[in-house]
Amino acid sequence: MRVLVTGGAGYIGSVITEELLKAGNFVVVYDSLEHGHIQAVSSQATFVCGHTSDRMRLAQTLAAHQIEAVIHMAAFIEVNKSVSDPDVYFQNNVSGSLSVIQAMHDAGVKKIVFSSTAALYGDPQKLPIQEQDLAAPTNPYGVTKLMTEEMLRWCADAFQFTATSLRYFNAAGASDLYGEMHEPETHLIPLALRAALQGKPFYIFGTDYPTRDGSAERDYIHVRDLAQAHIVALQRTDPGLKIYNVGVGRGSTIREVIASVERITGRTLQIIESPRRAGDQVATIADSRKIQAELGWKPAFPELDDIIESAWKWLMNHPNGYAR
Ligand SMILES: NC(=O)c1ccc[n+]([C@@H]2O[C@H](COP(=O)([O-])OP(=O)(O)OC[C@H]3O[C@@H](n4cnc5c(N)ncnc54)[C@H](O)[C@@H]3O)[C@@H](O)[C@H]2O)c1
Repeated sequence: MRVLVTGGAGYIGSVITEELLKAGNFVVVYDSLEHGHIQAVSSQATFVCGHTSDRMRLAQTLAAHQIEAVIHMAAFIEVNKSVSDPDVYFQNNVSGSLSVIQAMHDAGVKKIVFSSTAALYGDPQKLPIQEQDLAAPTNPYGVTKLMTEEMLRWCADAFQFTATSLRYFNAAGASDLYGEMHEPETHLIPLALRAALQGKPFYIFGTDYPTRDGSAERDYIHVRDLAQAHIVALQRTDPGLKIYNVGVGRGSTIREVIASVERITGRTLQIIESPRRAGDQVATIADSRKIQAELGWKPAFPELDDIIESAWKWLMNHPNGYAR
């Protein structure tokens, strides 16, 4: 298939592009490089440096490369920043997504897979979380994803798009070639591994949550398994929007992540226990039975140690990230 990946120079996009290429697809990466890395784009992909707001450029790129499907990942992803600068997030994530939808309509492309998030569930009323559970995001980042899903729902019906929204839980791990390097980094596993590598303190925010050890609990999904979820979603042909959770269905607490990091790295973390941060969820665990039953996806690397080991291997090979 001929696929365009917006945000393909970012963490998850680089691994998706790698897996798409391995499976024999033709890939165009479309990224502004505002947060991505050109070194994270495979030389086998065609790279276009562009912004999602540039509808005309996007439509021309789709037409010029006879693109059949779009994987739309380009977005700003920092929850705290979305609270301080919500306008920037609505502009980039919502307006940008509308522009992608319009460019697809202009160019006659009818298939899209969208990167959504578990953050749109807010504080879940029960665990594990199912797709039909209440979506009540507690920050603008989550709202931008929910708004985009709503735009997709209506536009998919009106334009006969096959639209798939994948609600990722916590992406983690690395492939042999590409790994996680956000600046600033806000995600737990790369932060813990960097602390282990550099001998710096590691902060646990909240030790009095109602979980088995008092620290917050998350469902970590290997980035390669996430990539495979996109590949199976591209096989859908029926028009309309479908929404799927993508997680392993099991939670790990922060203390369990730390224990795994210490096992894998052979180093002891210097832990500083701090109060809860406002807005942090207690626990998020995915019920992913829908994507397993309907699209045949299943995680190949569900074990936390395997996920952390892949991330550690990548960090050891890239101690300065994608150094320019
Ligand atoms: N990392 C996670 O655990 C996680 C969880 C849930 C959802 N997601 C979603 O997955 C997607 C990718 O996340 P990531 O961790 O790889 O982030 P990332 O920041 O590493 O990658 C995002 C990429 O999009 C590009 N980009 C941003 N806005 C753009 C725009 N308007 N036009 C063109 N390019 C633009 C950036 O330059 C970057 O390369 C995002 O949509 C994010 O919301 C990520």
